[in-house]
Amino acid sequence: MEEFHKVRRLPPYVFEQVNRLKASARAAGADIIDLGMGNPDLPTPKAVVDKLCDVVRDPRTHRYSSSRGIPGLRKAQAAYYARRFGVKLNPDTQVIATLGSKEGFANMAQAITAPGDVILCPDPTYPIHAFGFLMAGGVIRSMSVKPDDQFFVAIERAVRHSIPKPLALILNYPSNPTAYTADLDFYKEAVAQAKKHDIIILSDLAYSEIYFDDNAPPPSVLQVPGAMDVAVEFTSMSKTFSMPGWRMGFAVGNERLIAALSRVKSYLDYGAFTPIQVAASAALNGDGSDIEEVRSIYKRRRDVLVDSFGKAGFDVPPPAATMFAWAPIPEKFKSLGSLEFSKLLVEKADVAVAPGIGFGEQGDDYVRIALVENEHRIRQAARNIKRFLATADETMHNVIALNARR
Ligand SMILES: Cc1ncc(COP(=O)(O)O)c(C=O)c1O
Repeated sequence: MEEFHKVRRLPPYVFEQVNRLKASARAAGADIIDLGMGNPDLPTPKAVVDKLCDVVRDPRTHRYSSSRGIPGLRKAQAAYYARRFGVKLNPDTQVIATLGSKEGFANMAQAITAPGDVILCPDPTYPIHAFGFLMAGGVIRSMSVKPDDQFFVAIERAVRHSIPKPLALILNYPSNPTAYTADLDFYKEAVAQAKKHDIIILSDLAYSEIYFDDNAPPPSVLQVPGAMDVAVEFTSMSKTFSMPGWRMGFAVGNERLIAALSRVKSYLDYGAFTPIQVAASAALNGDGSDIEEVRSIYKRRRDVLVDSFGKAGFDVPPPAATMFAWAPIPEKFKSLGSLEFSKLLVEKADVAVAPGIGFGEQGDDYVRIALVENEHRIRQAARNIKRFLATADETMHNVIALNARR
């Protein structure tokens, strides 16, 4: 029987192959250190959990909620943008709550895409950026993820050579998986080009609060004067407040785009459970100390990762932001490609990472290492990898040759 049209456009998740291996190694008793999925391990702040528990006792909160988000939540998100970015938003028309930013992004794609519309999408990138639009019938034109002058040359070229002209440009800084960051000058130029060519900007700012060292806090594209004419931005409670399972995020910005997403969502959902929305409002209205704490934990883990993996013989460039390191595969394993290398790490070092190929074809020389285990476990992973690298020449000589088929 022929596969369904939509399903044909969704190849099996690459990460699933590593996950399967991980599950069978665990079933056989291995202690796998899981730095694969970007699934925060930190608990949600206690005050936020307490708020949920209080509110859930009120039966009035058990009814259908509001698809766009309750007014208090939209106000709290607008206040966050004002405080953090100096961006003024109308909570009624320029803010919508989403069931995580992933849902918001995918349904925005549904709302704005006609079959065959061309979308400029970074490669490598978080998979929903491309697949949200592929599911919506769009066509992807890949862009380099590096935010430099060449990026804008590529946009000009895309406008000249795509038929139809691109509908939208996806920006994701700080980037998952590469951890590249963008400054306000980059966004100014992006907005100028978007206006010149009548292109929508979709900015994914999921890592707005996870940044390190003296790096300036990541800006919002909406800080650029006039950006509101062309841009929407997605943020997430998942990483900022360690709330990945709660499924709470936002889209803010251009009114026409927010209204389009609102319309689609009004047919699909009744909004998140009201107690979750109330607790999320409390998190956003907090004094920022929870965010500070999360940031400093990820920073310490990053430092331990870079130091211990480096000493083990696996050089990992320190990410300036996000909860990920984007690490080039050590030279002698490069020919394997990222999927085979990731499988080897599970089998031979009890360490799971995400193969770069899962983020796009340009990612295949890299693996993504997520900071989702504690410092002790990261050091243990480094010891395992050191042992693996030290014995690889003797134990792997034929395996590498057999698998070198890229
Ligand atoms: C860049 C990026 N956008 C969106 C998401 C999804 O976040 P949410 O949990 O809000 O759906 C992630 C999660 O890993 C991400 O890395």
